[in-house]
Amino acid sequence: MAPSRKFFVGGNWKMNGKKQNLGELIGTLNAAKVPADTEVVCAPPTAYIDFARQKLDPKIAVAAQNCYKVTNGDFTGEISPGMIKDCRATWVVLGHSERRHVFGESNEPIGQKVARALTKVIVDNVKDWSKVILAYKPVWAIGTGKTATPQQAQEVQEKLRGWLKSNVSEAVAQSTPIIYGGSVTGATCKELAGQPDVDGFLVGGASLKPKFMDIINAKQ
Ligand code: PGA
Repeated sequence: MAPSRKFFVGGNWKMNGKKQNLGELIGTLNAAKVPADTEVVCAPPTAYIDFARQKLDPKIAVAAQNCYKVTNGDFTGEISPGMIKDCRATWVVLGHSERRHVFGESNEPIGQKVARALTKVIVDNVKDWSKVILAYKPVWAIGTGKTATPQQAQEVQEKLRGWLKSNVSEAVAQSTPIIYGGSVTGATCKELAGQPDVDGFLVGGASLKPKFMDIINAKQ
């Protein structure tokens, strides 16, 4: 991994948990040590963004799991990037395959949301990729217990980096973290983390368990 790319581990809690058990999980995360070269982000359900941000130690960032592309208005059930920021969450997961498959989202609205979530950064300077992390998440591996092999993940993520190099720039290809997601566990994370183009993980099921700490420490 190039030194400019920090190891990034996201915990996607999806539509799971209640204040009580999420509070317990947060207690475990707060008590644990996060390696200095690793960025950890938890994505609670929308209803618990504020709760999670208030309880989580500042060493762990908070993400929303989705957002809409406009600032405010008559869009029942949606949340805006500004609301996410107002709750002191600093990331948003966009274009997850569950949004595509269950809610029918397609590439175009996802692209518009990315532009809006990054507000000025991307509107004024579409070449600024510094706030973007890409995740390779094979759908056959999500929630199935079938993790991609380290070789499979490396092969695809190397190609993605090559795509960035050809279509954006060499600098962006080198600096943009590309993470893997799909049934990552404490048992599979270390070998995956050893691949040169695997810069971290987006974790679903295992992020709801104390063992998530093993994944946070995969690079150690
Ligand atoms: P999983 O989910 O780790 O439970 O497979 C990953 C994700 O969809 O973010």
